[in-house]
Amino acid sequence: MTQHLTIVHHPLVQHKLSIMRDKSTSTAGFRRLLREISQLLAYEITREIPLTTRRIETPLCEMDAPEIDGKKLALVSILRAGNGLLDGILELIPAARVGFVGLYRDPETLKPVQYYYKVPSELEDRMVIVVDPMLATGNSSVAAIDLLKQSGARNIRFLCLLAAPEGVKRMAEAHPDVPIVTAAVDERLNDHGYIVPGLGDAGDRMFGTK
Ligand code: URA
Repeated sequence: MTQHLTIVHHPLVQHKLSIMRDKSTSTAGFRRLLREISQLLAYEITREIPLTTRRIETPLCEMDAPEIDGKKLALVSILRAGNGLLDGILELIPAARVGFVGLYRDPETLKPVQYYYKVPSELEDRMVIVVDPMLATGNSSVAAIDLLKQSGARNIRFLCLLAAPEGVKRMAEAHPDVPIVTAAVDERLNDHGYIVPGLGDAGDRMFGTK
């Protein structure tokens, strides 16, 4: 993937995103749409996974059939909202390894602090797809990717549903080697760090909390 930012303009993605933005959409509806859209975004982000071939026998003859090369890829969810993207992607890539990164914002320093970190082994040999629905300030994404790089990951991609220009810029500065795939880049962040027009708090909307 050569470009840093890919916006998936596909009509199905845009239509589903609009329903998710609508505040009258129920928790169940939001969750179902997130699952569907995660698969469409995953389709895009995995477009350039290298293939090799394996000799197989069809009922008619032998052939060199394409299959994904290398170690199983790793999905890494930034807690908690990232988990809303995991299920759908795992349906598409059931053999993927899964990791979790938990970060909270220190109220005094405002810097992300790690409270949970568990990732698959041999990250240096895997494509790592980091998932978080909202790329807002970019602070947690940048911190999560810092940690993954410290663990050896070299081939990292970032999948989100919505991004703010501020978050895209921050990621481009901190991790220019990490391509981002998203359904849309909105106008801006508000004073509380929410994406505008956005869809509100993605975690609250998918889990029905407030
Ligand atoms: N996280 C969210 O859930 N929503 C935003 O708008 C920004 C960050």
